[in-house]
Amino acid sequence: MAAAEPIYGVLLSDAMDLKSYYSLDFGDAAPDVRLLNPDEVTNPDLIRFAVCWLPGPAAFSPYPNIEMAMSVGAGVDALLKHPGLNKDVAICRVRDPNQADLMAGYAVHEVVHVERGFARMQQSQAKAEWAPPAIRPPRDLKVAVLGHGSMGASVVKALAACGFSVSVACRRAPTDPVEGVDYFTGNDSVLKSVVGQDVVINVLPLTDETENVLDADLFAKVAMGAWLIQIGRGEHLVEDDLVAALDSGQLSGATLDVFRTEPLPSDHPFWADPRLRITPHIASDTTPRIVAEQALQSARELHRGQPLSLAISRGQGY
Ligand code: GLV
Repeated sequence: MAAAEPIYGVLLSDAMDLKSYYSLDFGDAAPDVRLLNPDEVTNPDLIRFAVCWLPGPAAFSPYPNIEMAMSVGAGVDALLKHPGLNKDVAICRVRDPNQADLMAGYAVHEVVHVERGFARMQQSQAKAEWAPPAIRPPRDLKVAVLGHGSMGASVVKALAACGFSVSVACRRAPTDPVEGVDYFTGNDSVLKSVVGQDVVINVLPLTDETENVLDADLFAKVAMGAWLIQIGRGEHLVEDDLVAALDSGQLSGATLDVFRTEPLPSDHPFWADPRLRITPHIASDTTPRIVAEQALQSARELHRGQPLSLAISRGQGY
């Protein structure tokens, strides 16, 4: 009996070689799914799905029959706003527990670094100076987490486990709340959750509603001298408002992992600002093995006409 026809997908990225980075050449291990680079596609009409990271503006145009586009990351903002992707194309993401753990580790690291004064201790070390900082109990530090998807929930659990006082802005109250954590829901949850907080951690998805959410209004509500940890998307932050909040002392500093333009241009003033800690979008990453498994899963669900379990809601934007 002849084998059933495989389903064909295309890899679309202006930024990276998806096939080799994520080992997306399944070969005999999955003869039912064929993933091709654009230069390997002989009949674009056969392509039914795309696996993407920052696809170029015309990336989708050769393929009239795409039914599903998958991001190799948790964020799907680049696909949602892509002008070449029809609104009836389903969008899938990766759900990677490792990525949520990485995010939590980064957030806790930054909170502890700032709270314990590690930067100053490094200066003391250079001068062979024994200068212990004042230490306060973790529950005296108020930390707001904006966003409570898989990343936000993991960050909240890790912070609570360290004893910090945590407040969270979320769309819906969680079914498994962490004891002692304050959850704010509804439209103004973001602004409510940051009032008087010492640290604000942004893990929101980027949508029309959340773009520019880190602005002067929000900075005006936090405790004087608060610290921002920005691990969402660059477009969440109004850069001029951040600089003004730093200049006024409303914020004492910020950790920035994501930027409006990435890589952050070498002449961007953020690089030279000593009040900022800059990392190159490494707060988390998806695990290549899980990306490959979930690409296969989504392709097979599409092939079999099953519901796409990793689809996001276009209405909600995540
Ligand atoms: C990283 O930014 C992701 O979207 O997974």
